[in-house]
Amino acid sequence: MRENSSPSSHGVTVAEDGSYLAIAANGQTSRFHAIWLRDNARDKETRSAANGQRLITLADIPADTRIDSVSRNDNTLSVRFQPEDKTTVFEIDWLLQHAYDLNSEREAGWINNDIELWDTGLSGNVPTADFDAVSDANDVLLQWLTLVSRYGFCKLTGGPIEEQAVLKVVDLFGHVRETNYGRFFDVRAEVNPSNLAYTGLGLQAHTDNPYRDPVPTIQVLYCLESSAAGGDNMVVDGFAAVKALQRENPDWFEVLSSHCARFEYAGSETVHLRARRPMIELAPDGELTGVRFNNRSAAAITDVSFDQMAFYYEAYRRLGAIIDDPSMEVTFRLSPGECFIVDNTRVLHARKGFSGNGSRWLQGCYADKDALQSTISVLAANSAAQSEKHYAKQ
Ligand code: FE2
Repeated sequence: MRENSSPSSHGVTVAEDGSYLAIAANGQTSRFHAIWLRDNARDKETRSAANGQRLITLADIPADTRIDSVSRNDNTLSVRFQPEDKTTVFEIDWLLQHAYDLNSEREAGWINNDIELWDTGLSGNVPTADFDAVSDANDVLLQWLTLVSRYGFCKLTGGPIEEQAVLKVVDLFGHVRETNYGRFFDVRAEVNPSNLAYTGLGLQAHTDNPYRDPVPTIQVLYCLESSAAGGDNMVVDGFAAVKALQRENPDWFEVLSSHCARFEYAGSETVHLRARRPMIELAPDGELTGVRFNNRSAAAITDVSFDQMAFYYEAYRRLGAIIDDPSMEVTFRLSPGECFIVDNTRVLHARKGFSGNGSRWLQGCYADKDALQSTISVLAANSAAQSEKHYAKQ
């Protein structure tokens, strides 16, 4: 390593062969490869000033790119690359925010810090927002969407009691995912003990449509009519459930996350949907990214060896028992004009049974989490820009 000769480059060193530079800040040293820096250059030949998109491909950057020199100017670094003989400027804050020189091997099933796991303890404090408030003020909208992102579900109260109001909820953050069920669908249940098919009896908590690939990542269920006693909605944090399974026996977690289950739906003549995905889905670095659990649409599992199948079923049974455990469930009731939004990759939902007379009518639709996260990012950036302006005026 060589310390850059300029006194203004304090805290920045460059490897002898120019293959990387290192920034010492806040008691930590972060190294950045020459090729990584060059690929992430922010100058106008590399990135479009208009939309931030990269204008070059990796083939445009010499494979033997190295750092020739670095000079520091307050919060920026000017880096000269060879053999292009190109100098480009990086903000040190940007570099530190994107540091990848981490020494930590993460364990399978690690969870993003923005997520908060919960169990039945959340029952008295169900995340809730008001339809008019989120519609009228961007800061309240941001708070609501942040709750959805953190807890994987949120109730919305005070909405209009009118057909297709569910679509207005999706308009607040994204776009409807249309499926073979249409842009939205009706969930009508009438109390009629002679026909259990139309009641909610016996429904285990589940994620919706696991037979789709990609699965719809958001579901909204909107109540238009609710005159029957019972019929409460119930949700279970699927991430908390699989983490509990992992604590009890890491091998159960491992067998369910390392084998594909199969899901299938052929409920009408024109539809035959199939997906081959694990019940516990991990990113390649072990991040817990999704749960698919639905006894009604689970197909024959054929991707587990004969030697492992009995153990797989043991794990599957235990995961189901954890999901069914009342200590995991949060229940709440929806009145007409109320709905709940659920992250269908994480939170399972079910409906409790009915009693007495009456009817229940909900409309549901699917949407996607990427648009919801995008709206959060845009609202947060706008809010930060506004408070900067506010402080500048003072
Ligand atoms: Fe469902």
